[in-house]
Amino acid sequence: MPILYNETTREFHLQTEKTSYIFCVLENDQLGQLYYGKRMRHRESFQHLFHVEATPNTACTNEGDLVFSLDLIKQEYPAYGTTDFREPVYQVLQEGGSRITNFVYRNHEIFHGKKKLDGLPATYVEGDEEATTLEVSLYDKEIDVEVRLSYTVFEELNAIARSGKFINHGQGKVNLTRALSASLDLPDSNFEMVQLSGSWARERHIKNRKLVPGIQSIASTRGTSSAQQNPFLALKRPETTEHQGEVYGVSLVYSGNFLAQVEVDHYDVTRLMIGINPFDFNWLLKSGEDFQTPEVVLVYSADGLNDMSQTFHRLYRTRLARGKWRDRERPVLINNWEATYFDFDEKKIFELAKSSKELGVELFVLDDGWFGKRDDDTTSLGDWSVDRRKLPNGITQLAKDIAGLGMEFGLWFEPEMVSKTSELYKAHPDWVIHVENRRISHGRNQFVLDFSRREVVDFIHSLMAEVLQDAPISYVKWDMNRYMTEIGSLALPANRQREVAHRYILGVYSLYERLTTDFPEVLFESCAGGGSRFDPGLLHYAPQGWTSDNTDAVERLKIQYGTSLVYPISSMGAHVSAVPNHQVGRVTSLETRANTAYFGVFGYELDVTMMTDEEKEQVKEQIAFYKKHRLLIQQGQFYRLESPFAGDGNCTSWMVVSEDQDEAMLGYYQVLSRPNPGLTRVIFKGLNPEFEYAIDGIGTTFFGDELMGAGLQLNRHLSNDHPTDFSSVVYKLKHV
Ligand code: DGJ
Repeated sequence: MPILYNETTREFHLQTEKTSYIFCVLENDQLGQLYYGKRMRHRESFQHLFHVEATPNTACTNEGDLVFSLDLIKQEYPAYGTTDFREPVYQVLQEGGSRITNFVYRNHEIFHGKKKLDGLPATYVEGDEEATTLEVSLYDKEIDVEVRLSYTVFEELNAIARSGKFINHGQGKVNLTRALSASLDLPDSNFEMVQLSGSWARERHIKNRKLVPGIQSIASTRGTSSAQQNPFLALKRPETTEHQGEVYGVSLVYSGNFLAQVEVDHYDVTRLMIGINPFDFNWLLKSGEDFQTPEVVLVYSADGLNDMSQTFHRLYRTRLARGKWRDRERPVLINNWEATYFDFDEKKIFELAKSSKELGVELFVLDDGWFGKRDDDTTSLGDWSVDRRKLPNGITQLAKDIAGLGMEFGLWFEPEMVSKTSELYKAHPDWVIHVENRRISHGRNQFVLDFSRREVVDFIHSLMAEVLQDAPISYVKWDMNRYMTEIGSLALPANRQREVAHRYILGVYSLYERLTTDFPEVLFESCAGGGSRFDPGLLHYAPQGWTSDNTDAVERLKIQYGTSLVYPISSMGAHVSAVPNHQVGRVTSLETRANTAYFGVFGYELDVTMMTDEEKEQVKEQIAFYKKHRLLIQQGQFYRLESPFAGDGNCTSWMVVSEDQDEAMLGYYQVLSRPNPGLTRVIFKGLNPEFEYAIDGIGTTFFGDELMGAGLQLNRHLSNDHPTDFSSVVYKLKHV
């Protein structure tokens, strides 16, 4: 049993194959944290891990006792206001104004499997034997409120999923002014904090900092998880590398405002917490109501960052993402956005589709501009009916014509937005997120629909469902191109205004839930002005996301490398686009553009009709290559070898290995060419040391142990002996 409870010592021991997570009921009946890390054998008692020593001036819990102080104790779900002065994970404001609570252990339950989370995306099981769950009920009798902490242990997958649910059993009302999902107190502070930070077109760059006493945090207040910070944080030892050393990773399955915070206290205890951002948040909990926090996934690895990532990848690819497309090979697509922007008509679209079909593309995606009167980004969002000026025969006919070519058809929507110049806005100006008598700021000329209101979600659902029902559409790109401002809803009373941001996200999830249920065959790709909402929450509904609007092959090295810290390769949309690149103006070879995009869900986003015959031949080969190996790429184990964030960042390499280690693929990239360079060598990972591998394009075979020991010598100039910037090679390995 992966969850053990000792009734005498009141200790819980959660075990995965490689980790142990131990906590206990303290003498004051609150929960204390004892250990999280490398798996340890079970023993009768772990009380020796509990450590508290009296210090002068400490605030103590019990009169006459100068030792027991929460300030000195590692805790499991800490509160502020008694004797712990660190920031708490939750706070309950009561009718009399008090914020003091005393949630004590009441009972617990251990069961096989995992329950669903109401209205929220979460990891899941496909059979009860896949995971075991512990629910611990904490209860404050003064206010008759319960908090139920849930821990699901994925034993084989080496992950623990945590969340909490507040339930108001009492007659009165309370306000949750803070309700984060989980907290973890670690006994020392010798860590670096690793975060994924960025902005539009440079999402999820890896940043590290050494922990110092006090608070360090990342957060979003933008209404989405954001491009600026991703809802993920890792604490690694300073000596930890990709392939060795300790690391703790926490990832929040949520797409809205979040906080991920680390506080190092006066005894060098590190408190890590993550959840909904308490800033500008409040949740009124009336009698009989409950509040479910989003889920947090905890991963500990003793074998470096790459091992942590592989754990997230496995869990997220197979037990967070869901639906028919989860395990299917993803189609090679072409998207018309960078080829035409808003300027297209039926003829142009059909020509693009036809030419790309000849090259082997399987799915044509019609992006922004097909509806209303949308010739630019100032109009029509919300009017989800076809623009007959551009597409006189409608979407259904276009989709049928494209199906006639033997291709699938996909369509772009931005369901959460409205333009002021639109029929929708004319009819329902009150459906916009805003505050009365205040200016409403725009972003890209558009306004955010109030998805905290059921009728708004229903309305958008009916429009989208109509389009999806009528036409043979097998893919939807769901975009979201601005952050939220002046957050308020006309439909909610004054005391619920701080619920709007969270209610909005629940509305987004509910629309995803309905559409994915109604249209199970449709592949959804999430997008938010590129990767501004690339998070585990949306991965639950959309197994792939548009990683970034930046399609430059060199910029993509950092973006995809950083994204892979948490997210599987099968979740990262990656397209070959035109040169000079539209975001940075760089000219890279078609080969390097494809070599980068192969390590993702591959596609094209350029005007293929303008390509030379020679380029078309090359594209044909690229598509054939990707199709042949996409199962390996999309479902293999990903290894980061050389980081674009290390040193001068000139070289990046990564690889994927099939589960049975029979096949592998390496990508090696060099940004700038160097005069008279030294020898370049790449050391492989994850191969079977006993296997003999043939490498395409290289005459000799190599054993796995050689490739992982001595490595492979690469051509000094990478690209066929000719020195050039932005060069790359991809090698395919096969066990012979
Ligand atoms: C932002 C997306 O990231 C792009 O791919 C494209 O769909 C545009 N929006 C369309 O407006």
